[in-house]
Amino acid sequence: MSESTIESILQEKRVFPPSAEFSQNAQIKSLEDYQKLYDKASSDPEKFWAELAESELHWFQKWDDVLDWQPPFAKWFVNGKINISYNCLDRHLTTWRKNKAALIWEGEPGDSRTLTYAQLHREVCQFANALKELGVQKGDRVGVYMPMIPEAAVAMLACARIGAVHSVVFGGFSAEALRDRLIDGQAKLVVTADGGWRKDAIVPLKVQVDKALADTTVTTVEKVLVVKRTGQETEMEPGRDHWWHDMQSSVSPDCPAEPMESEDMLFVLYTSGSTGKPKGVVHTTGGYNLYTHMTTKWIFDLNDTDVYWCTADVGWITGHSYIVYGPLSNGATTVMYEGAPRSSNPGCFWDVIEKYGVTVFYTAPTAIRAFIKMGEQLPNARNLSSLRLLGTVGEPINPEAWMWYHRVIGGERCPIVDTWWQTETGGIMITPLPGAIATKPGSATRPFPGIIADIVDLEGNTVPENEGGYLAVRYPWPGMMRTVYGDPDRFRRTYWEHIPPKDGKYTYFAGDGARKDEDGYFWVMGRVDDVLNVAGHRLGTMEVESALVSHPAVAEAAVVGKPDELKGEEVVAFVTLEGTYQASEELSKELKKHVVNEIGAIARPGEIRFTDSLPKTRSGKIMRRLLRSLAAGEEVTGDTSTLEDRSVLDKLREGA
Ligand code: WTA
Repeated sequence: MSESTIESILQEKRVFPPSAEFSQNAQIKSLEDYQKLYDKASSDPEKFWAELAESELHWFQKWDDVLDWQPPFAKWFVNGKINISYNCLDRHLTTWRKNKAALIWEGEPGDSRTLTYAQLHREVCQFANALKELGVQKGDRVGVYMPMIPEAAVAMLACARIGAVHSVVFGGFSAEALRDRLIDGQAKLVVTADGGWRKDAIVPLKVQVDKALADTTVTTVEKVLVVKRTGQETEMEPGRDHWWHDMQSSVSPDCPAEPMESEDMLFVLYTSGSTGKPKGVVHTTGGYNLYTHMTTKWIFDLNDTDVYWCTADVGWITGHSYIVYGPLSNGATTVMYEGAPRSSNPGCFWDVIEKYGVTVFYTAPTAIRAFIKMGEQLPNARNLSSLRLLGTVGEPINPEAWMWYHRVIGGERCPIVDTWWQTETGGIMITPLPGAIATKPGSATRPFPGIIADIVDLEGNTVPENEGGYLAVRYPWPGMMRTVYGDPDRFRRTYWEHIPPKDGKYTYFAGDGARKDEDGYFWVMGRVDDVLNVAGHRLGTMEVESALVSHPAVAEAAVVGKPDELKGEEVVAFVTLEGTYQASEELSKELKKHVVNEIGAIARPGEIRFTDSLPKTRSGKIMRRLLRSLAAGEEVTGDTSTLEDRSVLDKLREGA
């Protein structure tokens, strides 16, 4: 985030209480009610969660222990038996919700489809049987590389139904990125589509899968199940590849949900960190089901007349928790949209809201900033009066964008829930409960009941009010990640040892900087590590650097973020070249393309700066702080005395 944004957040004093009408009808109706819940949860978290697990979810068998906490490893609802697909589908079929719209899908070239709970259930059962027929068993990992079509959700729920572990890979990732994730997760099968629509063009997903699987280092994938979406000519490898529509006509629609251990793995989702390759974040069944269920219920305040739309992609955690599992577990109507705002259709989001009468809308600050640029006339020309609640996620929202969202989209009547959380936390952690907590533009406000959030220094001491520090969580919660797939040590190191454990008490380190104000409101400032947030997507600087140095021309690369008005941050790469290679516009283009091939379009550097050498300390560490200042065009301030060769800095300045 830029200095000026941080500055304006620090100055922000406006407060927006919910209207009396909103509060009256809300799940949690007042600050007192929130405070009561929060205190109850904090004084006995296990009792709090156990009561909710009992009243809100279906269990095949009750648990023995609510929490088994062997720091940093938690088990929730030990020996309980549950199936999240059952909770998302079957249990609604015995109620009037059977024929309620579960999933409303708006496809890109004007296609649309609505699945009721009964229809979704039937399709999930069929898909689960197809997976079984292709040899998938309980515990097997299934890669899901899909466009935003109902079958993406169907595939996830089908895996959950039979106890297979899904590993969804964002459809915008490259074949190389897909390959790495399939290898790490040892996937047995991949679910994909012939293609998907992305900004007026077809992305040939199956071709990418073929490319990934052509690599001989992928040894575990036996089958590919292909959904027909775009209809272009698609090569199918006999024996390995199967069309979903062929199988659908022959498989049985009867597939009882497998009773799973509460702690059985539900999914792996890869996310970027500051070191090494993306890590597989592991979430398990019971705790995740409860946490996404409760957060959806209280934060999005869903009831049976709501049409809820989260604009994320199912390839990210937001899509997992708040398009699929949370809303369906609540029996809500969830909207899924294949498209994205683009120059040929800049008003498409507002069209979707008007068309379906969306009441609760959840999107990212980067999208809001793009809409501000496109002008008010677009939303003003649509009827958005169905909206009653708005949300944001993914990065800090600058107060200007918040105010625009409030005024232009929310018509000054809709509360805004600014929700802070992470892939690792499974669900929303800091957020207003919209009928209870007055909002302040730029603040995610207060922790969800049961979440003991704090701002600490590196010794783990709580820092004084209004002082900056590290965002941390003091106690386990049901939705927390359980481990890094295949690397429990990395889990411990990354999240639980930055702040040294004291007296057996462990503190979760989120990697974000934040402060807490005099009202107990949290203000999240952004990452404190080498993780970038580009248009709300997490990206490790190391990943981009490894992609760059895998190009023969590149000797060394250092990647930093540069503040960007629209995307929040933009990737800037400082690159030194091998021997005879010459810096040129051509090479710069080629390197950008190379990064896109290695990772995906989200990682495309905005700028490549060629240099003879990189600023390093005497021990050889690249001084990123200097590079960040240079990239931002700011004066390089602070201590440069550890710099090994001071002339490097002058040259870099000249180069700019
Ligand atoms: C950032 C996305 C400020 C933060 C759900 C976090 C936010 C990272 C907010 C996680 C918010 C997310 N305010 N920052 N409301 N929400 N972040 O894993 O830096 O893709 O650590 O999960 O996004 O990104 P992830």
